[in-house]
Amino acid sequence: MIIRSADFDTSATDISACPRPGLPEFAFIGRSNVGKSSLLNLLAGRKALAKISSRPGHTQLLNFFTINGTWRIVDMPGYGYVRLPKGTRDRFADIITGFLTGRTAIRRVFVLLDSRLEPQRIDLEFVGWLAECGVPYVLVFTKTDKLKPSGVARNVAAFADALREWTTEQPQVFTCSAETGAGRGELLSFIGSLL
Ligand code: GTP
Ligand code: MG
Repeated sequence: MIIRSADFDTSATDISACPRPGLPEFAFIGRSNVGKSSLLNLLAGRKALAKISSRPGHTQLLNFFTINGTWRIVDMPGYGYVRLPKGTRDRFADIITGFLTGRTAIRRVFVLLDSRLEPQRIDLEFVGWLAECGVPYVLVFTKTDKLKPSGVARNVAAFADALREWTTEQPQVFTCSAETGAGRGELLSFIGSLL
């Protein structure tokens, strides 16, 4: 897929402020700092479309971007950011669950996972919850430039293995690096196949 345009639409602080559903949407979610905004910029081919921060908890709203005028990426706040005040965390959780289970335009949720880490309980729980709700999702392992391919393969396999305790589904898996651009072509083809 060739990216001809990538435009920021809007930031929504709650469900009612989201754009009218219409175009197919791909939602990016995962723990704070996992690389959601960086992956969006990589796919869009734009360095600064979404704000990137080394400070976790940067993306605090649902951010909508329209690509090629035909589909959307939704950059979501990271889950599990413990340093936010409890009230804010609860509000985020409500927005995330409401959006993911209620938004008819969602074609796939991309669950981003840090390829450097062994399976984390918070990620397994989240994926288990998505499966239980019947939300269509795939796994995307990020930051693969940070370790050897064998290390990536080991952590991907370990996650798939651990996930068996949470769901019988075997989700599709992608790997990527916003640093080297690895995985961009595969992810864009995948999105193209769903449009
Ligand atoms: P929140 O919005 O806070 O939840 O974070 P996020 O998931 O959107 O992460 P973001 O894209 O802001 O990236 C967090 C940090 O990880 C930044 O310092 C990025 O430069 C870095 N980063 C993201 N992707 C990669 C990658 O593929 N490789 C490397 N080496 N660093 C990355
Ligand atoms: Mg972000």
